[in-house]
Amino acid sequence: MEFLELSQVISIAMVMLFLFLSGRILFSCWITPTLVYQKLRRNGFGGPTPSFPLGNITEMTEKNGGSSLKSSNITHHDIHSSVFPYFARWQKLHGKVFIYWVGTEPFLYIAEPEFLKKMSAEVVAKSWGKPTVFKNDRDPMFGNGLIMSEGDNWVRHRHVITPAFHPTNLKVMATLMVESTTRMLNKWTTLIKSGRPEIDAEREITTTAGIIIAKTSFGMSYNSGQEVFKKLRALQVTLFNSNRFVGVPFNKVLCPKQNLEAKMLGKEIDRLLLTIITDRKKSIEEQRRPSQDLLGLLLQGSRAVDDNPGKSLNTQELVDECKTFFFGGHETTALAITWTLLLLATHPEWQNQLRDEIREVVKDKDHDLDADMVAGLKKMGWVMNEVLRLYPSAPNVQRQARGDIVVNGLTIPNGTNIWIDVVSMHHDPALWGEDANEFKPERFKDDLYGGCKHKMGYLPFGFGGRMCIGRNLTFLEYKIVLTLILSRFSFTLSPTYSHSPSLLLSLRPRYGMPLIFQPL
Ligand code: HEM
Ligand SMILES: *[C@@H]1O[C@H](CO)[C@@H](O)[C@H](O)[C@H]1NC(C)=O
Ligand SMILES: *[C@@H]1O[C@H](CO)[C@@H](O)[C@H](O)[C@H]1NC(C)=O
Ligand SMILES: *[C@@H]1O[C@H](CO)[C@@H](O)[C@H](O)[C@H]1NC(C)=O
Ligand SMILES: *[C@@H]1O[C@H](CO)[C@@H](O)[C@H](O)[C@H]1NC(C)=O
Repeated sequence: MEFLELSQVISIAMVMLFLFLSGRILFSCWITPTLVYQKLRRNGFGGPTPSFPLGNITEMTEKNGGSSLKSSNITHHDIHSSVFPYFARWQKLHGKVFIYWVGTEPFLYIAEPEFLKKMSAEVVAKSWGKPTVFKNDRDPMFGNGLIMSEGDNWVRHRHVITPAFHPTNLKVMATLMVESTTRMLNKWTTLIKSGRPEIDAEREITTTAGIIIAKTSFGMSYNSGQEVFKKLRALQVTLFNSNRFVGVPFNKVLCPKQNLEAKMLGKEIDRLLLTIITDRKKSIEEQRRPSQDLLGLLLQGSRAVDDNPGKSLNTQELVDECKTFFFGGHETTALAITWTLLLLATHPEWQNQLRDEIREVVKDKDHDLDADMVAGLKKMGWVMNEVLRLYPSAPNVQRQARGDIVVNGLTIPNGTNIWIDVVSMHHDPALWGEDANEFKPERFKDDLYGGCKHKMGYLPFGFGGRMCIGRNLTFLEYKIVLTLILSRFSFTLSPTYSHSPSLLLSLRPRYGMPLIFQPL
């Protein structure tokens, strides 16, 4: 009798639990997003009709057949419709501001600088959110580091980290950049001498940029540093060389292998970085000479505010920042350099102009290049701006509303994800004129915005108070690496290059960047 009762109790409890769980799932996967969607619709935002539970993902992941161009024909750079074919299509139907769905998450799409300006005027930097879907998905990479943090937490992190990126601190890093780049170029020379002048510049430069960022962030010379570096690269490959249905409920169940692998790698990286940080703290206490890398600077910065513990970063936070610098900093910079090589290979006149400028500014001191010297490379600065316009390594900027935002009398409800299409704005003839898709670095001569008709139309590093903190580091690295390459080699595009810029977290050449190098 008693036994029966017990089993009845258990089954009732199971049923209740089941109902409760399915209710929660239904609520978070369907009802909440649907309410947000209906509110957006009522407020006058249009967009493609989603289906449950994939949203508009099917259309977004469709292969766009044969859009890659052969190397001989890269004369214009109208890449929007091949990088984001679905956005290009939806723009024609719904304008430059509309809603679409990634899984069960509604996103507000924006490719209209004036709308963006009004929206960002309504929200202070610390009140912006970063989309929870991406935060969860990329947790092994960024943790709660600066890119993903929000609110007072973000304010505290930004406050502690900003001084580390001060130009005087970056100066020390120049030597290290020259060293790592020279090692790569020596290898190229050997390859060329052995009769193999074709080099995949993307792979080479990404590796070197990874080494540079690992050294500048947490000092790779430490034994465990090497191991962290290898694992960080592996994590990058695991998370971004696959399509994992981000935003679809239970997507983690759909790709269990990758997600488990990512999680394990993330844990190992944390453990290794933790050892590095603990060692560093010890050596600071023992009054040894502090390291001049970002971690060293953050530790000193944290000590300076030790009297005010609420303001410093704890060990886990430091781990997350080291990872954030690595993932936020190396591929973006490497790609800026890689796309530049493509454009210089197809515009030999600019290759020569930059070489002339280097000869004038740097003379033959390219082995002790420093920050002041490269600051004098003005034309190289225009080229960088123009490359980041045509091929922005960060092709979109994301936000999530953490309260209702009113723009043009329309309400963007609390919780709405926001996707800003940087590629579209950077190629928009309405903003740049009829030559929007041509490579013309001179548009940046004496003009920070390259003649863009709207100041929010050029956003290679994001906007507002959350703008990229690594800009100055990137400028330095870009100019050093490019100067060293240009002083030693001339290069042309390999006939095997296939032009297919693709979104793989960053904007990357899908089939690499094979170039033919010739020693000068
Ligand atoms: C060409 C190179 C780079 C590009 C194109 C780039 C682009 C961006 C963009 C678009 C954002 C988002 C801004 C926003 O949400 O409004 C960002 C943020 C950030 N970047 Fe970069 N970045 C580059 C290099 C670097 C480097 C070298 C580092 C660090 C070593 C770095 C660290 C960060 C961090 C920590 C943030 C978050 C800032 C915050 O939210 O307060 N980036 N970057
Ligand atoms: C949105 O996506 C769904 C599912 O992928 C699809 O059925 C629908 O046609 C799409 N809508 C538009 C306008 O693309
Ligand atoms: C390249 O462009 C030329 C003319 O602009 C054209 O004749 C040729 O077929 C194109 N080649 C390829 C591979 O698309
Ligand atoms: C926005 O929504 C979140 C979660 O639903 C809630 O915690 C928060 O208080 C809301 N913010 C505002 C300003 O209403
Ligand atoms: C970059 O350096 C300049 C001075 O060279 C400085 O004014 C600016 O605040 C720095 N930017 C960042 C994001 O650190």
